[in-house]
Amino acid sequence: MNFKQFLIRAELVKNEEIQKDYFVSWFHSPDISKFTKPGQFVMMESGQYLLRPFSIYEIEKECAGFLYRVIGGGTGFLSRLRPNERVLIHGPLGKGFNFSGNKSKPILIVAGGIGIATFPLVARSAFESGYKIKTLYGARSNNDLVCIDQMKKYGDIEIITDDGSSGQKGFVTELLTNELNKNKEQDIFVCGPTPMLKSVIKACNEFNVTAQVSFEEYMACGYGVCMSCVIKSGDKYVRTCIEGPVMRSNAINF
Ligand SMILES: Cc1cc2nc3c(=O)[nH]c(=O)nc-3n(C[C@H](O)[C@H](O)[C@H](O)COP(=O)(O)OP(=O)(O)OC[C@H]3O[C@@H](n4cnc5c(N)ncnc54)[C@H](O)[C@@H]3O)c2cc1C
Ligand code: FES
Repeated sequence: MNFKQFLIRAELVKNEEIQKDYFVSWFHSPDISKFTKPGQFVMMESGQYLLRPFSIYEIEKECAGFLYRVIGGGTGFLSRLRPNERVLIHGPLGKGFNFSGNKSKPILIVAGGIGIATFPLVARSAFESGYKIKTLYGARSNNDLVCIDQMKKYGDIEIITDDGSSGQKGFVTELLTNELNKNKEQDIFVCGPTPMLKSVIKACNEFNVTAQVSFEEYMACGYGVCMSCVIKSGDKYVRTCIEGPVMRSNAINF
């Protein structure tokens, strides 16, 4: 666990609508920016009773950015914030992705939908450390693809959409299966909606490979006390906010 955590009232620097309904909110948060490890998240005040969890999408100097799709009260609230307004942020939280140290082993990123939000920081950090990276990215349609140019800076990217409006038509698991047929010796990093995670874990099990999977279960507290985020691992339940959000695929029974 990362014990450097901060509870701050962070000032919004800017809100960018990068695509219809998709925003990046940048907050001045020097401590969080300094101590964040790729794949970690924060809990953020979002105008609702409970704080909301968001992956740390990128760090720029003393600012942390959060990418989200507006789907409800919390994300709507964030998207309407104006510069200089402040919100409570608690983080960085949880366990992120582990880089193996073996730079000859490529990293294969598998992202579904808004699960892409966690990967620009992961990809940049891995790239700057000398890893080769490839991204497989699935989304519902062309309108739901974001950060492609950013991810291209760090390696190849293959796109697939449910409706075929961009890239191949189908699900990201198909790209993963093709990739594993070519080369199983890759470190696989995954984030996306639960049904996608289930099929990715199934594919990994079939190929006898283990992935690092970032779970996006509902979280009420983000620091281990409420048990709203548990998933089954072996014969016990684990808290994805503490033992995760990134966990090994072979430790989870879906
Ligand atoms: C560790 C973690 C990291 C996350 N990172 C991001 C991120 O970087 N960007 C991002 O856009 N979202 C992220 N999420 C999800 C994000 O927290 C939810 O999108 C957010 O809580 C929605 O809040 P809201 O108040 O706008 O929606 P609400 O008003 O709470 O809900 C609107 C609708 O969305 C559904 N919903 C809400 N949260 C989730 C969820 N977690 N999974 C599935 N359905 C949900 C609700 O059931 C409801 O139908 C993350 C979640 C976790 C646990
Ligand atoms: S969100 Fe409360 S224990 Fe994990």
